Amino acid sequence: MPSALQLVGNTPLVELRTIRDGVAPGVRLLGKLEGFNPGGSVKDRPALRMIEDGLASGRLTPGKTILDSTSGNTGIALAMVGAALGYPVELVMPSNVSAERKQVIAAYGAKVVFSDPLEGSDGAIRLCRKILADNPEKYFKPDQYNNPANPLAHYETTGPEIWRQTEGAVTHFVAAIGTSGTIMGTGRYLKEQNPAVQVIAAEPDDAFHGLEGLKHMATSIVPGIYHEEELDQKIGIATDEAYTMVYRLGREEGLLLGQSSGAVLVAALQVARELDEGTIVLLFPDFGDRYLSTNLWRGWPQREA
Ligand SMILES: Cc1ncc(COP(=O)(O)O)c(C=O)c1O
Repeated sequence: MPSALQLVGNTPLVELRTIRDGVAPGVRLLGKLEGFNPGGSVKDRPALRMIEDGLASGRLTPGKTILDSTSGNTGIALAMVGAALGYPVELVMPSNVSAERKQVIAAYGAKVVFSDPLEGSDGAIRLCRKILADNPEKYFKPDQYNNPANPLAHYETTGPEIWRQTEGAVTHFVAAIGTSGTIMGTGRYLKEQNPAVQVIAAEPDDAFHGLEGLKHMATSIVPGIYHEEELDQKIGIATDEAYTMVYRLGREEGLLLGQSSGAVLVAALQVARELDEGTIVLLFPDFGDRYLSTNLWRGWPQREA
C-alpha cells in the first residue's frame, strides 16, 4: 500500500463531452484533474520535489523548519509534505485569509504566522524575509518562484503522465500561470517528445483580477523560472468569463473545479475552435470546494437569477 506521498501524481484525465461550444468533432478536450493529489492540488508535485531536493542537497536537515509565505495551494502542499516527512512547517500569510485556509494548514500541524492584512501578500513576503534573516540557520525556504525543482517536478511527472495517458496523441497543452512551474516543466517535456506540441498559457487579462493563484505577468514580479519564449501563445482571460465557466463545469459536466480551471477552459475553447482535429490537454489545478467562501461563489445565486 502506498504512503500519502506516494499518491502524489498519476492523476486521471477526464474527457469534456458537453462544454464544446462549436468545437469540431475531431477535437478532444481532456482535463487533467490535479485535485486528486493527496493535498488537493497540482502544488503537491513541486512541494514534494523542492523538499526532496532540499534534503538531497543538504539545505534541509533534521532540526530545520520549512518556511514560506503562501496561503494558497503551495502552503497547503508544503504543510502536507512536511507532516508526512516529520519536518515542522511555518507559513506566513495575511491575517485576513479565509478561515478554511487557516484551518486546513493548522490541521496538518503547520504553524501560521500572520502579517498585516493591509499589506497583502507583499506584507507576508516581507515578514517571511525578516523571519529568515533573523534566524537563517533555523529555516529552509523552498522559494517556488526561483527554484528549478518546481518546473522539474512537472518535467519529471506531469509531462510523462500526459504523454503516456494520450499515447503520444497530445497536440496542445493549456495551463494557467502562477509561478509558471506547471507550464514550463510540462511544456518542455512534451516538446521534447514532439516539437509540434503547442504550449498555451492562460493568464488574467488585468492586474486586478479574482483568479487566485494566477499572475498577470506584465504587472508582476516575474518569476526566475519563467521563460516566455518557450510558450507558443498566451491568452488573457477575464475574471467573469472564468467564473462563468466554473459554474458551467459544475452543472454541465459534473466537475466542481477552482477558478483557474475555468480560465484554462476558456482559453482552450478559443484554441479548439480554430482546429479540425487535435487532442488538447487542459491542466485543472484543483477542485472547487476550496473556494466556496470566496467571491467566486459568494453572490452566485443572484448572478444566476
Ligand atoms: C489554483 C491554482 N491554479 C494555477 C496555479 C498555477 O500554477 P503554477 O504556479 O505552476 O504556474 C496555481 C499555483 O500557483 C494555483 O494555486
